[in-house]
Amino acid sequence: ASRDTISDLLLDWYDRNARVLPWRAAPGTPAPEPYRVWLSEVMLQQTTVAAVKDYFARFTARWPQVTDLAAAADEEVMAAWAGLGYYARARNLLACARAVAARGGAFPDTEDELRALPGLGAYTAAAVAAIAFGRRAVVVDANVERVVSRLFALEEPLPGSRPAIRALADTITPDKRAGDFAQAMMDLGATVCTARAPRCLLCPLAGPCKARAQGEPERLPVKAAK
Ligand code: ADE
Repeated sequence: ASRDTISDLLLDWYDRNARVLPWRAAPGTPAPEPYRVWLSEVMLQQTTVAAVKDYFARFTARWPQVTDLAAAADEEVMAAWAGLGYYARARNLLACARAVAARGGAFPDTEDELRALPGLGAYTAAAVAAIAFGRRAVVVDANVERVVSRLFALEEPLPGSRPAIRALADTITPDKRAGDFAQAMMDLGATVCTARAPRCLLCPLAGPCKARAQGEPERLPVKAAK
């Protein structure tokens, strides 16, 4: 009802509509292993969910633990990565696996320590902290940028609006279920609050959404001319 916060509305929606993905725990069940969260998030950067599924299954079958991946030969991992593109990511993947193996095979459990691992940028560190460790972290990818831009009817073009988007995302991020909240924002952006034809009739945030109230949600986010 009207007292529900944005995160309440979104988490209720996620409980009913979360996509079932191999690297994801069902809502309400224990968090998936950090290795699986990290591996999926690295693969998902600039690659679609559909394309990542097979690669994720092959990697985790062949290298079930981060220490297994750390022990693999560089060429084996590069060959298994072929087709995912962005080979620098595969090199960083191995460097990170070896750094984690060197600390005994356990990923650090804070955003700052995760950020210090090879190849972990702000997005990946926040995503792993929230999804694998339940830490409150502000997780912003392109889907989240679109959802937040519309919720608050931000007229400032991307990428200049990024600091404002991050600050607003912070205000709606809950203390509990931060990992579910992050993944719910991404699912909403991928399946409902889509770029060209948002499905506002299905959206749990249609009530508070300012772009929806203004009548032209698909106009946002504005992108700066290149
Ligand atoms: N895109 C990148 N990571 C994701 C996740 N954990 N859930 C949904 N979409 C994603």
